[in-house]
Amino acid sequence: MKKHVLGLAALLPLLALAADGMDIMQKGGANPSAPPCMTCHGADGKGMAASGFPRLAGLPEAYIAKQLADFKAGRRKNPVMQPIAEALSDEEVAAVARAYAGMPKVNVKAEPIERPEPGTGAWLALRGAWERNIPECVLCHGPNGVGVGSVFPPLAGQSALYIENQLNAWRGTPAIPATRKTKAVPAVPPTRANDPNGLMAHIAQSLTPAEVKAVAEYFAGLGETEEPFDASQHHRLR
Ligand code: HEC
Ligand code: HEC
Repeated sequence: MKKHVLGLAALLPLLALAADGMDIMQKGGANPSAPPCMTCHGADGKGMAASGFPRLAGLPEAYIAKQLADFKAGRRKNPVMQPIAEALSDEEVAAVARAYAGMPKVNVKAEPIERPEPGTGAWLALRGAWERNIPECVLCHGPNGVGVGSVFPPLAGQSALYIENQLNAWRGTPAIPATRKTKAVPAVPPTRANDPNGLMAHIAQSLTPAEVKAVAEYFAGLGETEEPFDASQHHRLR
């Protein structure tokens, strides 16, 4: 008997540490400032397109953990997600990242566009604009934008609004000088500055606002198919 009690007592601190990712999604973190993730990211983890809440289901574990760390550190600014990330312990971040990574990945319908029209979102996505040093998005984000390894997140499965928000976050907005009729509008610095080697900042800042919209709509339009999941479309670097 005594042995059992001792055994339990030894286990208790471990139980307190072992955060449950599913629990955090459904009930929130131990700190009430971290509400259930599913209220915004959806019961199926697929996000809410109209509100710009991204899909988390099937995103790489290391990518999710990195984003939460970036929100905490202020390298990625967002008034909704920063306080939530700050309220999660490191153990909770690890657990919830693992749980979302374990949910189904986006299942795109691979319909190759043979010849994208120049100047369209598809052209940028598949060919880039090398004369402006903009590589094609699929070079890093994988064929059909399904993501590659743990560094390059999927774009397929995300909404146009969310993709556009992220590109604009890396862009910031330039100052508008005063005119006789209007006041000057100060520049807004980029709110997302967490990309390795400034890869995305360079790309986002090289695009025109119309291109941002077009490429966001292209990836959002890839959608998700009901057909059986084809694992071969997902590439792993490491
Ligand atoms: C009140 C709504 C809300 C709740 C609750 C919420 N999120 Fe978010 N989340 C957002 C929004 C909005 C964004 C996009 C922020 C931006 O545009 O940068 C986001 C973005 C993220 C991202 C970045 C995804 C990417 O593709 O880069 C991660 C990771 C994330 N949330 C994790 C969580 C976790 C884990 C929880 C639960 C503990 C949670 N969120 C709860 C609204 C929410
Ligand atoms: C040279 C490699 C590279 C190329 C080319 C590239 N990206 Fe990225 N992209 C990245 C990396 C790395 C990240 C993850 C940054 C981070 O850690 O937050 C990223 C993240 C993103 C995100 C944020 C996704 C999310 O879940 O929050 C969007 C949106 C995005 N890229 C759009 C594009 C578009 C559109 C293009 C083409 C015009 C493009 N990218 C081309 C490397 C690249």
